Amino acid sequence: MNASHTINKITGLIILAVLATPVAAQDETLAAGKMVYDKWCGPCHDAGVDHPGTLALSAKYAGVKSPALEEWTDLPPAVTKLFVRNGVSIMPFFRKTEISDAELDELAAYLARNTDVAGKAENPDAACDRDCLAGFIDQYMNAMIAHDPGVLPVTAQVKFTEDTIEMQLGQGLWEKVSKLTDYRMDILDVHNSTAISLTVVEENGIRVMFALRLKIENKLISEAETMVVRSREEGMIFNPDTLQKVSETMVLEPEPALRNTRDEMINIATLYPAGLKTGSFATVDVPFSSGAYRFENGQLMAGPGCTFFPGCEDIKNQRIPTLAGITHKVAAVDGEAGIVLLRMNFGPGATFDGKNTLNVWEAFKVYDNHMHAVEAFMEVLPIGAPSGWD
Ligand code: HEC
Repeated sequence: MNASHTINKITGLIILAVLATPVAAQDETLAAGKMVYDKWCGPCHDAGVDHPGTLALSAKYAGVKSPALEEWTDLPPAVTKLFVRNGVSIMPFFRKTEISDAELDELAAYLARNTDVAGKAENPDAACDRDCLAGFIDQYMNAMIAHDPGVLPVTAQVKFTEDTIEMQLGQGLWEKVSKLTDYRMDILDVHNSTAISLTVVEENGIRVMFALRLKIENKLISEAETMVVRSREEGMIFNPDTLQKVSETMVLEPEPALRNTRDEMINIATLYPAGLKTGSFATVDVPFSSGAYRFENGQLMAGPGCTFFPGCEDIKNQRIPTLAGITHKVAAVDGEAGIVLLRMNFGPGATFDGKNTLNVWEAFKVYDNHMHAVEAFMEVLPIGAPSGWD
């Protein structure tokens, strides 16, 4: 037998070994997960009334399902990870020095062994529906408030930016965020597996505006783009105190007969940057509804009741700058909510100093062939600075 035969034979053995591992590895994972469970969770969650976790869950899920976690058929890994890293009521949270990330993976896999959704979650073809997308925003916000990105289901190559700068998840706002508030406007795009949220959170007790875009691939977060606006200096306009509740216009879900198609929604929304490019919404004939208005960073800047500058009550005919260099990207289209989110860079001419521009997350309420509202979160950015996603 010559050398190349030997190598072929070895290669063959390696291929066999690789093919043989998945099933065995899975059994090993479950066995390892069971050990983690027995050590840390069993004392509170085993079947029987003398276990406080089981007692609490039997009150919570009386008659709905077994109070013993090991018997659950609806416990996806992400849920286990969230509770283990954050704790709940008398259940402590577990540090990585107690349960490592690898052990948590095993534990979560073990508890998900009877869960159908876990199987589906790993199926790349299963789409992330509206609840799933909103759930990712929940998870992101909860992980951030717990200052623990480790609980997030992310891809190996996950990319994260804050204010256009690439960082590690856990840096930036993650370090100092102190509270979530009731202000949260989600834009959920099942078609593009994208979840966007415009929210207000507190950092050291101070209200800051927080914009989030998550791209979900195979039920994992592959992209997290964020913007944090903390002051008038950062936002040019800054009035987060008015952002207590999402406006009724944005919340309203248009009845199906009044919804526009995805393409129609995009066409109507993109008339807005087209108007800014030519310096007139009237010229491009943006189809504003009669009550249409615009909020920027919490400040009413156009529409009924606007007093910010003369003529601003009329959104279509108010004076606007001519932004010849404006660029836009369609970030999400939420057909059910009737909202299009455009990511825009206003280019030169948007600020007075000649050096800066505005980086904008602009939400348009579009249905019944009209634009009913424009609500933007925006931040000052040097002219020409990249978005981090170009
Ligand atoms: C000191 C006791 C204790 C320990 C240890 C403990 N838990 Fe819990 N756990 C509880 C209690 C009590 C609850 C119910 C809290 C409530 O909602 O009131 C709970 C709730 C949960 C829930 C949420 C279920 C639901 O739907 O509300 C999960 C998941 C969970 N525990 C998993 C675990 C895992 C996994 C471990 C081991 C790493 C663990 N727990 C360790 C006491 C404990």
